[in-house]
Amino acid sequence: MMDWLEALTPDYIKHLTPYASARRSVSAGDVWLNANESPSVPGVHNQSGELNRYPDFQPEVLLTGYAEYAGVATDQLLVTRGIDEGIDLLIGTFCEAGLDRIVYTPPTYGMYKIAAETKGVAACAIPLGSDFQLDVEQLEVILGSSSASRALASSASGIVLKLIFLCSPNNPTGGVLDRSAVISVLDAAGEKALVIIDEAYIEFIPEASYVGLLSEYPNLVVLRTLSKAFGLAGLRCGFVMANSDIIQLLRKVIAPYPIPMPVVDLANQALSRPGIRLMEEAVGTIGAMRKSMEQQLAGFSFILETYPGQANFILIKVKDVVALIKFLVQLGVIIRDQSFQTGLEACVRISVGSPRETEKLIQALQEFEVGK
Ligand SMILES: Cc1ncc(COP(=O)(O)O)c(C=O)c1O
Repeated sequence: MMDWLEALTPDYIKHLTPYASARRSVSAGDVWLNANESPSVPGVHNQSGELNRYPDFQPEVLLTGYAEYAGVATDQLLVTRGIDEGIDLLIGTFCEAGLDRIVYTPPTYGMYKIAAETKGVAACAIPLGSDFQLDVEQLEVILGSSSASRALASSASGIVLKLIFLCSPNNPTGGVLDRSAVISVLDAAGEKALVIIDEAYIEFIPEASYVGLLSEYPNLVVLRTLSKAFGLAGLRCGFVMANSDIIQLLRKVIAPYPIPMPVVDLANQALSRPGIRLMEEAVGTIGAMRKSMEQQLAGFSFILETYPGQANFILIKVKDVVALIKFLVQLGVIIRDQSFQTGLEACVRISVGSPRETEKLIQALQEFEVGK
């Protein structure tokens, strides 16, 4: 393992012997009597693989399929139960309760902070600027990368910064982070902290991915999911991509049988050539619908601002958030309040739905406009 990564890893994780699960310890055999499985499944059927058996620890076919899709090696990849498990796993692997902290950049996805705090790990906010871009100066200060800030960073009560969570395209603002700013943070983090980029929405703007930098930056971790552009939020399937030393550590901590067999089958369908083509078509359709929705929203007087985004949702600022949400709920239309987030006063986020859902939304907004 790289020296600096070893220094970032708590001793108890370094010395941990992972659970020797039945599937992990032996890979070939005819008579499997090592996992207290049932010899048969009464009346429940699965396409491939017998459900009376535990699944593979990391299903080879899924590893190979996603590695090929994303352009990484299989030893740079871990399959997880959605990005949410990836976030949890990174914090659980690298951060010690009460001793370490993570940084997140609000307004952003809420789970970085919650996942840290549920583990007794401090979450430090370095808010995005008014343009929803990174505050590189503050991030460099907290990383102690300039000589002036080094003393400041290390004097912070002995709490060590281990992980920096960035999100691009960012939820709920919808835009991508400036590439040069992200690279400055990767450089400043160097051998001191891991920089995790959540690419949940990357298929909507694939050219903005950081996966291509994995070999250049051993401190980079990229999170991906099948929940968004692939349309499989119900599947709970995500991926961590990173240097193989980081993946090896995460493999020690993840549960022994994380990926259910039906998930493997369905994820493989999604990652087949026709599956990827369908996803790309859906991305095109959703992008066109987002643009049409943006135009329709521009006509409402209670919408003060529509923020340009690249993903499958739109962030808007409105005159009266509480009244709008309450009105829409009565009509059965549910949108997401974001006004509690730093820098997003009076903002709500609306997902791009089906044409029928969008029509219903626009009708409801028209009624709200007239009724005010
Ligand atoms: C930025 C971001 N990351 C991660 C997730 C959760 O992803 P998953 O369904 O893969 O756990 C979401 C879901 O909304 C998200 O917006």
